[in-house]
Amino acid sequence: MITDSQLPMIPMPNLNDTHIEEMVIIKKLSEAALDDQVELVQKTLQELLKYMSLHFFDEEDLMEEALFPALHAHKSEHDKQLHLLQTIMKEFGKIKDVSLVISYVQDNLIPWIIRHIQTMDETMALYLQPEADAQKA
Ligand SMILES: [Fe+2]
Ligand SMILES: [Fe+2]
Repeated sequence: MITDSQLPMIPMPNLNDTHIEEMVIIKKLSEAALDDQVELVQKTLQELLKYMSLHFFDEEDLMEEALFPALHAHKSEHDKQLHLLQTIMKEFGKIKDVSLVISYVQDNLIPWIIRHIQTMDETMALYLQPEADAQKA
């Protein structure tokens, strides 16, 4: 599991906070799964879906407002990840096997988040920075 200091930072403080907060939920999910707490895993998957949907929606809203040229490519990455999470939730609901969630978090979700922040979120932040600065003021 990565620590907050290993999470890539972008030049938009609000979004960094969102990413850190999301990582807190992912840590909770991972711990519940390693502890074989099926109900808590289910609850935390719901919490993650809700948080991740808002996180992605906020970014898409900012990109839309700023007419960011790569909006559709960025949104399609978000949509794919939300779809995968929903697929994992459905499957987990059926088989209730925590190893499914453990491998999803370690092999897919965390590497994806790090790569996504370093590439797409970073590019977006550099483009949006004037708006982000205006928002802070
Ligand atoms: Fe993000
Ligand atoms: Fe993003």
